[in-house]
Amino acid sequence: MTTASHPVTILGTGSYAPERVMTNEDLSQMVDTSDEWITTRTGIRERHIAADGETASDMAVRAARLALDSAGLTADAIDAVIVCTMTPDQPCPATACFVQEKLGLEGKTAFDLTAACSGFIYGLQVASALVHAGTHRHVLLIGAEKLSAIIDWTDRSTCVLFGDGAGAVVLGRGPDHRHGIIGVRTGANGAQAELLHVPGGGCRIPASEQTVRDRLHFLKMNGREVFKHAVRGMEQVARDLLDEHGYVAGDLDLVIPHQANLRIIDTLGSRLEIPPERFFNNLERYGNTSAASIPLALDEAVRAGRVRPGDLILMLAFGAGLTWGASLLRWSGNNQPVPLSEN
Ligand code: UT7
Repeated sequence: MTTASHPVTILGTGSYAPERVMTNEDLSQMVDTSDEWITTRTGIRERHIAADGETASDMAVRAARLALDSAGLTADAIDAVIVCTMTPDQPCPATACFVQEKLGLEGKTAFDLTAACSGFIYGLQVASALVHAGTHRHVLLIGAEKLSAIIDWTDRSTCVLFGDGAGAVVLGRGPDHRHGIIGVRTGANGAQAELLHVPGGGCRIPASEQTVRDRLHFLKMNGREVFKHAVRGMEQVARDLLDEHGYVAGDLDLVIPHQANLRIIDTLGSRLEIPPERFFNNLERYGNTSAASIPLALDEAVRAGRVRPGDLILMLAFGAGLTWGASLLRWSGNNQPVPLSEN
């Protein structure tokens, strides 16, 4: 029996990536780059690109349905939908409202959360607080991105990095006292906003013919600076969260980091003294899918049998804002994984 004193836990996971795959070779036909450069500098080999009419909410719904199946729940058990995205279907209303409608969840709470690549960890903090407070029994938390819509396909320094996709989890009270979310930490430094941003289209620089000519609706990034902050930021938040709950890095069974760059993940591993085999990575096949990256990797890890009941799992994120976050949880193993081939 589940009681209100049980920790909030992940009851099910799901993910979706669009059908179309764009390889490094494909990109080398579009901009001055090479498979060798992209692979050695990032670890990425291919990424999925959404179809023209396919939106963040379409991808979110695909991932959400699988998460519900894996939790053994039907949509009517969901009391809130949170979509973490920086590529909403429209500036207004929230993409979560489209997801809610498509899932037939009329009347239920629905809102978006914007924390770029840290969105899922921020979302985990908010969603678990809703369940903890008792106002919402089950929350559908989704990271969904159509980054291909805001990528400057003439800018080789960014277009090789990103991909589209979605990952979802269902949160609710766990089956016992020993498993579930142990803690979540998030932070931000808005003074570094310009290191990674989309300058145009908001109220500061509203959309105009000029903003389109100046390419202000595309993602701009100072990659070298973001790289340094990402390593330091994730290392610090990992250490703080582990300390706070009386754990050390050696206690971890699995780390699921934001999938931006394999060199960032490897550096983080050496600094935290966590061996590479304790990290789950899939950026080779997806690139950086921003808010979708952690739930997509988590779902793959679950379906690949990399996550066992009782495992201590650390999830780490870093992104525009700058923002960062970490979550520590003891896997409850009560979800019902569906093999990847049926996904
Ligand atoms: O998800 C949010 C967080 N985002 C991140 O964590 C991204 C963090 N940053 C990075 O992952 C890396 O900084 C990049 C992958 C973006 C770039 O790698 P880097 O080793 O920092 O390269 P760089 O920007 O210092 O550029 C090195 C060289 C430059 O040429 P010069 O100036 O040395 O002649 C670039 O022009 O590589 C050149 N370059 C490329 N060459 C071939 C940049 N992009 C490309 C490319 N193909 N696609």
